Amino acid sequence: MNTKKACNTYNLDYKFFAKIFNAKENDFPSLAKQVISKANSKYQIVEGKEYDRAILRIIKTLDSKNLKTSGPHRLNDWEKGWEENLTEFKRSGYDLNQLIPKFVKEGEYIRFQDNFIDPQSNSFETDFVIVMRYYLFNKYYKGINTLYEFGAGTGLNLVAASEIFPNMKLVGLDWAKSSINIINTLKEKLNINISAKFFDLFNPDEKYRLDKDSGVLTIGTLEQLGENFKPFINYLLKKKPKACINVETLYEIYNQDNLLDYLAVKYLDKRNYLRGFLPYLKSLQAKKKIKILDIRRTFGSFYHDGYSYIVWKPI
Ligand SMILES: C[S@@+](CC[C@H](N)C(=O)[O-])C[C@H]1O[C@@H](n2cnc3c(N)ncnc32)[C@H](O)[C@@H]1O
Repeated sequence: MNTKKACNTYNLDYKFFAKIFNAKENDFPSLAKQVISKANSKYQIVEGKEYDRAILRIIKTLDSKNLKTSGPHRLNDWEKGWEENLTEFKRSGYDLNQLIPKFVKEGEYIRFQDNFIDPQSNSFETDFVIVMRYYLFNKYYKGINTLYEFGAGTGLNLVAASEIFPNMKLVGLDWAKSSINIINTLKEKLNINISAKFFDLFNPDEKYRLDKDSGVLTIGTLEQLGENFKPFINYLLKKKPKACINVETLYEIYNQDNLLDYLAVKYLDKRNYLRGFLPYLKSLQAKKKIKILDIRRTFGSFYHDGYSYIVWKPI
């Protein structure tokens, strides 16, 4: 955003990140610390007319007929999206930056602590995700032999896991063939232990087994299942991974007495995004089927908080 007002500038330094994740210094691997020290994390809080314009933009979007709903009919859109990334990845001579999903919008306001913030850097969202990924992997995947990312997309999250745990076996699962092609290309081009597998989360293949001491990851994937996430969670309950991290929009975490949150909930309704997941996991915990290790709200992109997370494990 280029329209800056003369107001306070804040900085997301290391202490700030520690507060967001309720973390201690030891919880951050050195790779995360390097990103925090290099990144420009300065931002301003959006106020006045600029804030009003942003709210109006959301309301107009909600009223428009252009919002696509998630569901089985979206497979082709994902195929096409990842195909584009793959083409650019090859054309660039295998530059990993070409694997950043196109839905990460540079220069857009970010939702943070009941406000819109206006970052100075265009890569604020990407930098934040990189730090969060390193932190979560380092904290919860110690002792994991195989990491399965369901809805792996371009496989960048698995590449990040390989930086923290070079010997970890990595499996990227997705329903889009173009995603599987990207991950197979990563296997050829990078020296990491990665493989790809077709998996449809709407119809989990019960015969597909997870290795002993496995970890499970989803980032922005369960979002796409609307209310149809139970077959997958029930699949995981049977396969008993050691740790599951879901970085997802969590419908029930929003406070509907707050304007930005209320609009986020409307957005999730309109797009048929993940709903009922958090109460379902809590009910499983009450029945002693799982243990929840953390639930945390962090940031969001313009319309909703897609980077909230829940960490849990089957008992
Ligand atoms: C928002 S993208 C996230 C990709 C990746 N996790 C990331 O962080 O960049 C959602 C991913 O879920 C996949 N997906 C959506 N519905 C799916 C389904 N029913 N079964 C398997 N994968 C699915 C899409 O193909 C896409 O790769």
